[in-house]
Amino acid sequence: MAFDIEMIKAVYEKYPSRIAAARKAVGRPLTLTEKILYAHLTEGDAAAAYERGVSYVDFNPDRVAMQDATAQMALLQFMQAGRDKVAVPSTVHCDHLIQAEVGATADLNKAKDKNREVYDFLASVSNKYGIGFWKPGAGIIHQVVLENYAFPGGMMIGTDSHTPNAGGLGMIAIGVGGADACDVMAGLPWELKFPKLIGVKLTGKLSGWTAAKDVILKVAGILTVKGGTGSVVEYFGEGATSLSATGKGTICNMGAEIGATTSIFGYDEKSEAYLRGTERGDIADMANAIKEHLTGDPEVYEQPEKYFDQVIEINLSELEPHINGPFTPDLAWPLSKFAAAVKENGWPAKLEVGLIGSCTNSSYEDISRAASLAQQAVDKKLLAKSEYTITPGSEQVRFTVDRDGFLDIFGKMGGVVLANACGPCIGQWARHGADKQEKNSIITSFNRNFAKRADGNPNTHAFVASPEIVTALAIAGDLTFNPVTDTLTNEEGQQVKLDEPRGLELPTKGFAVEDAGYLAPAEDGSQVEVLVDSKSERLQLLEPFQAWEGTDLHGLKLLIKAKGKCTTDHISMAGPWLRFRGHLDNISNNMLIGAVNAYNGETNKVKNQLTGEYGEVPAVQRQYKLQGIGSIVVGDENYGEGSSREHAAMEPRFLGVRAILVKSFARIHETNLKKQGMLALTFDNPADYDLIQEDDAIDILGLTSFAPGKPLTVVLNHADGSKDEIKVNHTYNQGQIAWFKAGSALNLIKAGV
Ligand code: F3S
Repeated sequence: MAFDIEMIKAVYEKYPSRIAAARKAVGRPLTLTEKILYAHLTEGDAAAAYERGVSYVDFNPDRVAMQDATAQMALLQFMQAGRDKVAVPSTVHCDHLIQAEVGATADLNKAKDKNREVYDFLASVSNKYGIGFWKPGAGIIHQVVLENYAFPGGMMIGTDSHTPNAGGLGMIAIGVGGADACDVMAGLPWELKFPKLIGVKLTGKLSGWTAAKDVILKVAGILTVKGGTGSVVEYFGEGATSLSATGKGTICNMGAEIGATTSIFGYDEKSEAYLRGTERGDIADMANAIKEHLTGDPEVYEQPEKYFDQVIEINLSELEPHINGPFTPDLAWPLSKFAAAVKENGWPAKLEVGLIGSCTNSSYEDISRAASLAQQAVDKKLLAKSEYTITPGSEQVRFTVDRDGFLDIFGKMGGVVLANACGPCIGQWARHGADKQEKNSIITSFNRNFAKRADGNPNTHAFVASPEIVTALAIAGDLTFNPVTDTLTNEEGQQVKLDEPRGLELPTKGFAVEDAGYLAPAEDGSQVEVLVDSKSERLQLLEPFQAWEGTDLHGLKLLIKAKGKCTTDHISMAGPWLRFRGHLDNISNNMLIGAVNAYNGETNKVKNQLTGEYGEVPAVQRQYKLQGIGSIVVGDENYGEGSSREHAAMEPRFLGVRAILVKSFARIHETNLKKQGMLALTFDNPADYDLIQEDDAIDILGLTSFAPGKPLTVVLNHADGSKDEIKVNHTYNQGQIAWFKAGSALNLIKAGV
């Protein structure tokens, strides 16, 4: 992958001068996070002392990765940008659409059949625009990225929330929406609020039953699911350098569960070993040459309280294995207290299924340590009492652990190897009996355990632990089993104890693979045809949105006045709608169906001002669209919080909503609306929300002199003939006003502006 080497060389060449400039600008030593961010400032931007948690800064990420569910809309948008090729190395990974049912081969074949048109589309777009394509079965995005693309000191964005996994190899890796990915692939800068910094000092060394996973399970217990919001978590200390690169990846991966922007470890000998182990010795050599820049300055780690916004210290020598859950990943239980918690809370002690692997925990180290327990089960004549599944994170890992006999050992214990894909981790699990109403327990080495996530059953109590603990508990079939202290009765009636797990960080014979599942793009893709069937219900090519007509807007119908929380899930639901992520028209049938109508307290029931009757939000809006009448959506506080899902902005735009007027916006959603050419407005006086009436026709005035910082006027024409005139604000800068005028940011990119 010569393209990568050249790119990494160019990144590293900039490091010394950029770090020197950054140090001068802030006037103090730098954390690793700051070094990487400053090294990736948009070309030409001078280093400045950015305010953490306040300043918005433009960056040039080195790479983009996309998974198959989110890549569809990202690439449909990219096709609109009028570029011949992506501006930075980018990859697509087919991992989310494979359902686990009976086992790897059968499940994979079924998925290929079922999702053929989506895979064909993704493969052809990738081929055309210079994007690397990882076929279904090649592996899970984050494991494949760690093995092939992550590099110390790099910066990437990915259209998946666990993109931070690459932080294990010292990369700032951040999960984003498809619109952001599209911009970066088109060569535009990417904006991020300069993060706050949480330092986690690790002392001591792991031993016995404790694994890297337990570090993040402990951190999640301390910080909770919101504690990392707006922050990068930087790990350091002798404990950090003692962890394998893949163990570090696990910790960074699950940083998403505490809401962190991303997590990161510095470059060290373990990173070097992993790079060499994955045949990237050339990158290790280059990293060694600038290694002082690939970790925080020593003063920062000596006095962390002075340089981080928050500091946590964990002694790995004293850390116990943890089990977190149920229903939330921050409910952290040290193993020694877990059995009592199970009993006290009445959680089902019988363990139905143990699942190991996923993007979080499927390294060679994880699999070899879990296999050492499976081997003991066989040797000690213990039949596994629970069902047990193994999800390898990549074909390279699967092939290697198969060669080294581990899959065989799992088979003897009764384990089933699933496809190298997300499967049960994302609810793609045809679990038999999942519709049962009884409470039941499962334990996984995955990262998320919200209700219904794995099998769609709200009665399933899902717990999260290391692969070692999952395996031991699956052997016991009992959630209250503590492998550190307890014995088990084997087939011959003897009491036996499991010894501590053992494993290897990297395979002694090296990694091997016959077909990694990678398809390189065409050198010249100009002749490649992108495959989209015009009759498809899952994919639809995008049409550019219309440019602004150049006048104020008059007579907009109020579509809905939403009350209370209105997240991106309320605006564009997930679940069964995931299927239409690549078809804007079809997915628009979920527009705002979860929002509560302020006038009747109901969801998906709004007044059609043309007929006076009540109907579903998308259906009513489609009637307005048919008549060529614009509409407006009114909302409450923090409208659009949740995810960076661009569908929540594209759907109203597509169906003819002209403006969203709210008390306040979640910022990412506000930006997404601007990108799609919508008007995102806020009440100057939040109490004016109460002036909006159900039958209002609304005018927006001042657009002909639309300018940064200059409020607009909204006129509410009430049904009784009276009027209210209110002031509304906006945060559009000059460039964003140009997006509005052009009809969308993409229209401008296409025009080469
Ligand atoms: Fe896939 Fe689950 Fe990871 S959905 S990307 S295995 S978090």
